[in-house]
Amino acid sequence: MAPKHQAPRGTRDLLPEALGRWQWAEARARDVLARYGYGEIRTPMFEDYELFARTSGESSEVVQKEMYRFKDLADRDLALRPESTAGVCRAYLEQGLGGRSRVHRLWYMGPMFRYGRPQKGRYRQFSQIGAELIGSAAPGADVEMITLFVDVFEAWGFKDLVVAVNSVGTPESRRAYAEALRSWLAPARDRLSADSQQRLEVNPLRVLDTKDEGDLKLLHGGELGALPHMLDHLDAESRAHWDQVLAGLEASGIRHEVDHGLVRGLDYYTRTAFEVHDRTLGAQSTLGGGGRYDGLIEALGGPPTPGVGFSIGMDRAMLVLEQRGEGAPAATAGVFVIAMDATRAQAARLVRELRREFVVEWDVEAKSFGQQMKIAGKSGARMALILGEDEWAQGQVGLKDLTSGEQRAVRREALVAELRASLAAPAEAAPKRGA
Ligand code: HAM
Repeated sequence: MAPKHQAPRGTRDLLPEALGRWQWAEARARDVLARYGYGEIRTPMFEDYELFARTSGESSEVVQKEMYRFKDLADRDLALRPESTAGVCRAYLEQGLGGRSRVHRLWYMGPMFRYGRPQKGRYRQFSQIGAELIGSAAPGADVEMITLFVDVFEAWGFKDLVVAVNSVGTPESRRAYAEALRSWLAPARDRLSADSQQRLEVNPLRVLDTKDEGDLKLLHGGELGALPHMLDHLDAESRAHWDQVLAGLEASGIRHEVDHGLVRGLDYYTRTAFEVHDRTLGAQSTLGGGGRYDGLIEALGGPPTPGVGFSIGMDRAMLVLEQRGEGAPAATAGVFVIAMDATRAQAARLVRELRREFVVEWDVEAKSFGQQMKIAGKSGARMALILGEDEWAQGQVGLKDLTSGEQRAVRREALVAELRASLAAPAEAAPKRGA
């Protein structure tokens, strides 16, 4: 019979087997973030719709087409968060963090929601891990952020990462560039896809984000001459900032390459923008990205406050790790307790005691001895603890190493010490769960 309910389109259930890899990656990322001196922040999963419209931009794809916008029972206009930077900046202002110290280093992890077309690596509920450095306009802050970004990936075993970088300038220099781009594309305007023609009117930089083959040919095919570069339209300060960011990346040993087409999908960026791609993922190849957002906090009614940050798409990073077979957790090295009818009551208490220190499994269904042995063998546990009636009466239990098959009797008072020693010793060949 088909189940009555399915998870909504674009959402997924993650089961324990898959979550082992997620938890491993999350723990490693937390370690890197802690060593960089970042503190965790948790903000609500929904906020006023207006917060996102004002920051991501009314004309951005995210706000135009992908918002989970809803009214609550008191008619408030709310939205599930499509990203976290806006929420973090809202919290920064609301909690008065600027008054406590000038610079704040924050990180977050959790689900985001975008109503896009689901496909491999693109979901309607997905998870991001991100960091924000608020309060410093220095190029060194951009460099720290990109270095942290790369170091999280390296902690997950990614090697030879190349970060794509660009500068999107200030709103003024961007306007000048948008004009240059518009006139450059004017002769071919009618041949652009309908989407790009519309973008050309509203926000010409977005044309650079096109996936349309015909558009790409016009942009990069040479027919119109060389595509104008944002970097050639930067104001002097943004240019100096850019040069220092590049020098800082060199000094830190971060492999990077300038990508003149990198424009990012959200409107709040100023100056530095960056991304990392993995081509094995196909169309949804961006593993993460970020940049500077010096006008965002002011746009929320705060004092001029610079910021820079990134977010990594965990679902995509996990797909890559899975493909590479990286980050799979080791089989649980634990204890399986086997009880007889006569020792079941005592076993219940012992299992509870041992679980204060060890990973312990046992059979709650009171199966036969043979069946329990079989389950123990498949469980992945390192040791079986056998509570035979006679042995228990003599103050002893049987301890069987499930790797070597060796079994001995152990006095109950010595059991914890024996288990500690046995579980700490290297296994000859670790048994695999379900093998
Ligand atoms: P974003 O580029 O919109 O930036 O998203 C960052 C990453 O989230 C993407 O590179 C991608 O890996 C992942 N992602 C986005 N949408 C989806 C989806 N539908 N399914 C799966 N993964 C997805 C931001 O969100 C900014 N808040 C980054 C930032 C932080 N900028 C400054 N600070």
